[in-house]
Amino acid sequence: MKKYYITTYGCQMNVHESEKLAGILTSLGYSASECEKDADIILFNTCCIRENAEDRADGNIGALKKLKKQNKDLIVAVGGCMTQQKGYAEQLIKKFPFIDIIFGTHNLEDFKTLLQKKLLQKKPVLEILEKEQQIKEGTPKTRTSFPNAWVNITYGCNNFCTYCIVPYVRGRERSRKLVDIVNECKELINEGYKEITLLGQNVNSYGNDLGDVDFADLITEISKIDKKFRLGFMTNHPKDLSEKLIKALANSDKVCKRIHLPIQAGSNRILKLMNRKYTREDYFDKIDLLRKYIPDIAITSDIMVGFPTETEEDFLDTVDVVNRIGFAGAFTFVYSRRKGTPADKMDGQVDENVSKERIMKLIDLQNSINRKQSENYIGKVVEVLCEGFDQKKNMYLGRDTYGRMLYFEGNEQDLGEFVSVKVLSAGGISLMGQKVN
Ligand code: SAH
Ligand code: SF4
Ligand code: F3S
Repeated sequence: MKKYYITTYGCQMNVHESEKLAGILTSLGYSASECEKDADIILFNTCCIRENAEDRADGNIGALKKLKKQNKDLIVAVGGCMTQQKGYAEQLIKKFPFIDIIFGTHNLEDFKTLLQKKLLQKKPVLEILEKEQQIKEGTPKTRTSFPNAWVNITYGCNNFCTYCIVPYVRGRERSRKLVDIVNECKELINEGYKEITLLGQNVNSYGNDLGDVDFADLITEISKIDKKFRLGFMTNHPKDLSEKLIKALANSDKVCKRIHLPIQAGSNRILKLMNRKYTREDYFDKIDLLRKYIPDIAITSDIMVGFPTETEEDFLDTVDVVNRIGFAGAFTFVYSRRKGTPADKMDGQVDENVSKERIMKLIDLQNSINRKQSENYIGKVVEVLCEGFDQKKNMYLGRDTYGRMLYFEGNEQDLGEFVSVKVLSAGGISLMGQKVN
């Protein structure tokens, strides 16, 4: 049997997109390979959100030259956000002439046709579509994240934050029909999945292009599915988080008690330059509203340092937000210049060393907050959805409704099940516990 090997970079959306590529290859009779060297087709699903994501992909593609020499029939395909950038595909094929197929984000689901084309010709297939296509339903998926299942609800983004490349490589926002999403969720729950995570660049604006439904309606509909499961979603844009939605979240017995609500920066001046369309005060108001309806909700965030013109004072505003809110977790990033975005042309690009210093301070602060939160867990009994086994720790692992990772001694039957775990110790941010009945 022929084998495929896929390397994925970037966000959960890309992880799910790779599940579709795997699904397409499975439908063609391929199976997953454990390593690159045993594969007949090697695929890279790339990301271009920051420079380092591109560098990593470049390095790994370059390293295939040797394998390609050893095996003339090996097919190398590169697709995703990196290749979708204007003029990038031509650049890439010049640099790595051994690549067989280059595709973008708008024709990822046509991979079967691209592969068949390649098998009939010697020269590489290089196809990037400029415009977003109509949403395709029914693409096969080989899922890899049981007991969680990713479900797309929107594609693309209309927000044009000035630092961000996503609107340029993913196109305008399109929403899937409510009925298609609900049906997919029902099927997944019936198949035994215990957690659904809805995906979109900005899930809160779901339905804006459909007219008669919004994200709150979608949450309410999915929550009606009559079996025990958890419902999560990402990512949220603070400007679109409405009271109607917060009420729908609070009223659902399926929605997890966690929300990822990227603030990006704590300074109003920087938020304006970023085109985020909210102030720090607006953000605090949203947090108050969330905590009014769901008092124990865990809030996580994305935070960036070193945006053009960011001063020490602006940075201290970000530190202040982190101190005041007490995030349950935060992804922190150093601003990375992206060609074609407005921020790339702004004066006042921040010195790399200054940014590095700032991010280190931020990471230390967030870690200390997480440690305190971990200590508060000790002695509590929490419900964990067991999602895997950690070889190194020799323990099973899973998350609670707040998204906290817990390790515990369990057995194979626990995989994919809800188990009660008593937290016994906290080492840094990871929690250890014991199963209880
Ligand atoms: N749509 C999501 C996020 C997508 S990208 C949202 O708006 O929340 C994930 C994160 O990467 C962003 O939240 C941002 O913090 C970070 N990011 C985006 N562009 C970046 C850039 N040019 N440099 C550094 N970080 C960036
Ligand atoms: Fe990028 Fe902003 Fe869209 Fe998120 S909301 S994908 S940060 S443009
Ligand atoms: Fe990267 Fe594209 Fe996601 S740029 S973060 S893979 S949408």
